[in-house]
Amino acid sequence: MVRSASAGLTVRMRTQVAIVGAGPAGLLLSHLLAQGGVDSVVVETRTREYVESRIRAGILEHSTVELLRSAGLGSRLLQEGAEHRGIYLQWPGERHHLDFLELVGRSVWVYGQTEVQKDLGRARDAAGQQVIYDVRDTEVHEPATPYVTFTVDGRLTRLDADVVVGCDGSFGPTRAVVPGTTWQRTYPYSWLGVLADVAPSTDELIYAWHPDGFALNSMRSPTVTRLYLQVPSDTDIDDWSDDRIWQALADRLGHGQDGWRLQSGPITEKSVLPMRSLVQAPMRNGNVFLAGDAAHIVPPTGAKGLNLAVADVGLLAPALVALLRENDPRLADTYSDRALRRVWRCTHFSWWMTTMLHTGDDPFDAQLQLSQLRWVASSVAGATGLAENYAGLPIGF
Ligand code: DHB
Repeated sequence: MVRSASAGLTVRMRTQVAIVGAGPAGLLLSHLLAQGGVDSVVVETRTREYVESRIRAGILEHSTVELLRSAGLGSRLLQEGAEHRGIYLQWPGERHHLDFLELVGRSVWVYGQTEVQKDLGRARDAAGQQVIYDVRDTEVHEPATPYVTFTVDGRLTRLDADVVVGCDGSFGPTRAVVPGTTWQRTYPYSWLGVLADVAPSTDELIYAWHPDGFALNSMRSPTVTRLYLQVPSDTDIDDWSDDRIWQALADRLGHGQDGWRLQSGPITEKSVLPMRSLVQAPMRNGNVFLAGDAAHIVPPTGAKGLNLAVADVGLLAPALVALLRENDPRLADTYSDRALRRVWRCTHFSWWMTTMLHTGDDPFDAQLQLSQLRWVASSVAGATGLAENYAGLPIGF
């Protein structure tokens, strides 16, 4: 129940949990809290249209799919998404399939974050959730007795809450009130990502090591392909014509190798994505908690970003329900430590996949990478390690 009353020029509102950010973490948290009988209000600086159209990764690990299903959010995902049993790992002259189902009994699903976002938006609409988009100047105050201020339609608003959760990404305002230690690494390369209106040339994703740089052949649907190229960090997108992109993809993905062909088509979106790792700990200060990118960033290789955000929320929602409904702080008190265990595992896995597959100018490193790839592709122990991490560890790992 949200109460709202004007006090002078400030609109005042109150809820149990104020959620900053309406990305997948914020909306999923409001959904799970509502199912647990806890009210929330979500505030978001972007418009709904922007949030629902921004292009992000598209691989859901096993526990993400299970959580979405058990929360009643899985019907379109299961209908329109595609289950993949594994991936291909390749380097010049060789392509190897890793079968996750055979190795660890778990699969992954191809279903774009954009679609998860739309499903969450519709579910929150149906439940009458208050999500305030297009707010300005959001600030989080007084972590012990927190409140959020923002302006919307030119009116200053104060939202009081028992708990504030920052689901507002690494540039959002909530991190500022959660002091701690930050670990980070930037990588000397970026990804050039494209969406193309063409049927995928592969049944499952291809991760390709190549002397010119890494390439990834992914997909979004039977008619839309998603592709990535390793490029230098300072890359100007205007230097990459569509022809140059397709040529580089064909070279690195092995067009012509053993009769395999990369089908090209109209490119509908292209952008350069920087790559960095960042972990902030703890993920709590007083009654302010962090979830998702607000506390940690992974490089995209291995597609862990969205999955980690979902895992955080999967831990945080029951902790807040216990705290606010039963006055039981035990799960909330251990949330940060439990979340960080998985965060560091995924931080290591993303760093490992990134450094194994992206090439630099050191020929010694290149030989180590090829040796590692051969081991992962040919040893059950090596393949199982990749599969276990890629398909995802259980949420409480
Ligand atoms: C995608 C992104 C990734 O980072 C990845 O490892 C696999 C797939 C994607 O956008 O489809």
